[in-house]
Amino acid sequence: MKKVLITGGAGYIGSHIALALLDRDREVVVVDNLVNGSLQALARVETITGKKLFFYHGDIRSAADLDNIFRRHHIGEVIHMAGLKSVSESISRPDDYYQNNVVGTLNLLDSMRRARVRRLIFSSSATVYGPQPCCPVDESCPTGATTNPYGTTKLIAEHYLRELAAAEPQLAITALRYFNPIGAHESGLIGEDPCGIPTNLLPYIFQVAIGKLEHLCVYGTDYPTPDGTGVRDYIHIMDLAAGHLKALDNLQPGFRVYNLGTGKGYSVMEIINAVEKISGRQIKWQPRKRRKGDAAECYADPSLAQRELSWQAERCLEKMIADAWRWHSAYPQGYVKE
Ligand code: NAD
Ligand code: UD1
Repeated sequence: MKKVLITGGAGYIGSHIALALLDRDREVVVVDNLVNGSLQALARVETITGKKLFFYHGDIRSAADLDNIFRRHHIGEVIHMAGLKSVSESISRPDDYYQNNVVGTLNLLDSMRRARVRRLIFSSSATVYGPQPCCPVDESCPTGATTNPYGTTKLIAEHYLRELAAAEPQLAITALRYFNPIGAHESGLIGEDPCGIPTNLLPYIFQVAIGKLEHLCVYGTDYPTPDGTGVRDYIHIMDLAAGHLKALDNLQPGFRVYNLGTGKGYSVMEIINAVEKISGRQIKWQPRKRRKGDAAECYADPSLAQRELSWQAERCLEKMIADAWRWHSAYPQGYVKE
């Protein structure tokens, strides 16, 4: 069987997908420039699965790096995860985001064309919807109201892939729009390792729980939600990984797009309470004004993926928090920096 190439496979989501693929007896090749990834994550994936993967320290903006991999390995499918993902950084350094997320994607597709590889899964984001007037959000909801360069680069990449698939009918491309991936593999050996001070809710709360940060700022306590705080659709990282395996199984010529979410929203206060209960630690928090660009609530209608991919998220919020806590409490400093 041909191998799967994961771009950005040393990162948070990519390492969990690599693990799920190896568990399924697929051969995995990873390319990553390690700006935000870790070789230790990949070593632990090999320990957990008892299987080896192929790693290349390379950049998706380099045709030579990618062509070299396609020459050396018989790749059947690509899962394209490599890219930059910080909303705040994208506002101060938009050029880096366009280069990595847009130009990098064009470059990858060029290399795939030369290697005659035609099957691709693309990591997109619910951010392409922008703040929506109503929930749940399904795939027919309008996109385009992105509020930052990160979101815009994801949307441009989606448009490019859609138009490319229309022009080249042998291409089979699926874009997966993730809602809020959290949690860790249940071994507690791999998980999310943000650099610097996190901007997303869960990594921030866990740093408060382990005592690295003093308190959480809750952005907005006056939203029109049951307790006034923002509501999001958090999904366990291993459910997200399972969604990629189903998307690979169901890849068909053309371009398709699916939400990967649970369909259920939790507020910031519900998350704080769940982390306190599971970790046994008190989470100090202070109210702050709403964060610019935030919606009151955002949760998925995941029924298209359920119907067409036979996939649905199975793990509950307690499991997401318990698995993440196992990782953060065992490795409060994250991976050893290489
Ligand atoms: P991550 O930063 O942990 O992983 C991305 C990986 O890509 C890193 O290992 C990084 O070193 C690598 N990388 C970045 N630029 C590269 C380049 N030019 N060449 C080669 N490698 C490069 O992020 P993640 O959370 O695992 O996200 C993976 C993908 O999913 C990203 O495309 C992200 O935009 C998307 N996504 C993430 C979330 C989320 O909440 N984590 C939500 C929606 C979509
Ligand atoms: C954010 C990004 C989105 C990106 C997603 C995943 C913005 C505006 N949106 O979405 O583009 O795709 O992360 O990376 O940045 N919160 C706090 N205090 C904190 C952090 C968050 O109260 O310190 C609240 C937020 O206001 C929100 C909820 O927690 O209500 C979740 O926030 P976050 O984890 O940043 O995810 P999103 O807002 O969904």
